Amino acid sequence: MDKIEIKGETYSFKGSLDVPADKSIGHRALFISSLNKDMTKISNLASSEDVRTISDDLQSTIKCLADIGVQFAEIKGNIFVRGRGSKEFIQSEGILNCGNSGTTARLITGLLSGQQFESKIDGDDSLRKRPMDRVIKPLTEMGGSFSASDNSLPLTILPSVLKGGRFDLNLGSAQVKSALIFAALSAEEETTLVEHKRSRNHTELMLQGCTDNLKVNGNEIIITPNPSINLEGFEVPGDPSSAAFFIVAGLLNKDSELHIKNICLNQTRIHFITILKEMGGQIEIVDTKKIGGEEVGDVVIKSSHLKSIKIEKDSIPLLIDEIPIISLACSLAEGKSEIIDAEELRLKESDRIQTTVSELKKLGCNIQETKDGMIIEGIEGIKGAECESHNDHRIAMMIAVAGTVAKGTTSINNPECASISFPNFYDKLNNFRK
Ligand code: S3P
Repeated sequence: MDKIEIKGETYSFKGSLDVPADKSIGHRALFISSLNKDMTKISNLASSEDVRTISDDLQSTIKCLADIGVQFAEIKGNIFVRGRGSKEFIQSEGILNCGNSGTTARLITGLLSGQQFESKIDGDDSLRKRPMDRVIKPLTEMGGSFSASDNSLPLTILPSVLKGGRFDLNLGSAQVKSALIFAALSAEEETTLVEHKRSRNHTELMLQGCTDNLKVNGNEIIITPNPSINLEGFEVPGDPSSAAFFIVAGLLNKDSELHIKNICLNQTRIHFITILKEMGGQIEIVDTKKIGGEEVGDVVIKSSHLKSIKIEKDSIPLLIDEIPIISLACSLAEGKSEIIDAEELRLKESDRIQTTVSELKKLGCNIQETKDGMIIEGIEGIKGAECESHNDHRIAMMIAVAGTVAKGTTSINNPECASISFPNFYDKLNNFRK
């Protein structure tokens, strides 16, 4: 599919909806299962209707882990994993291709940096542009050894013995934190990571649920090597970052009453809901329960009149993936919104400050790019236009949601990338055509 067209003002977001399983938890379920020498069962790893809709991202992780000796089987939609422990992976015959997935590239670099063989890591054109020095530098301080031009992919991990030690996490990146945690599990000594900006904490929660080798004390994460893992399985809840597109669609379109089921409600992931509520969004969380250490529940959304907001500092890592869709909400809110301290957005699948601003401008939004964010003057309505996904799943889906409220037709070139995190996104959106 080269292009998709969305006819504005023909949608009604009434009814209920499931979204795909959480991508971050899915990656970690696979990585942690790889440390378990016994069998681990992962349920709801893929979109439940069709396991072939496993996103490219997860294929990247499964394929890379299979290449280093982890065994996978799929039975009745569940994935069964037989791992190898923290130090007994085997050398891949070929390059480990992480596709479009920054999480796979960073986490596998951590996992393999303390092994006694060489590994080569690569990815697609977008991933080759994204920085790897954020993991290479701290892993080198731990004793790892790497060869990469420009500190980006392709990257060679050389055989090394990791020492452990005490490290400051200043970036607010869960990928970096998780890479260091996986590295620390194969080190010689204890490692303490001091987190100065909160970021998503699934790796810590999931490991705490299956081993005593990771402890969290305030903002310190203490890891002792050679974990003994006691793990039966993981059940992956729905992805709040995918739900975010339908939540904003529900808020912006008239007469919505939308019920999104089984969403991961981890506080480090749903800060965007807090922000949208502060903007006046009618969003309710119901039917909460705990599944595998994570809070899970349903989200109910009603059409709302939104007001402007300022988003800055420590809240940025907690809603980093939702900023494109929040920018659309700000564009149609009353007043002037500001997003600052968000330079990390320039290092995602596309430069998301530039791509969000350029596409929303095409739709008539009053939005200006700044060095580290954007300034958005809310307007009453937008109009359809021809837009580009920039091969970035979150930009494609943000434009599609904008298209539902725009006057006339919005087209998206290269829309297929939505399946990186949300297979069947456009079909699910179409289910809400009036
Ligand atoms: C992710 C962390 C975030 C996020 C990405 C997934 C993860 O990246 O943008 O989509 O699963 O750890 P950073 O932690 O590097 O900001």
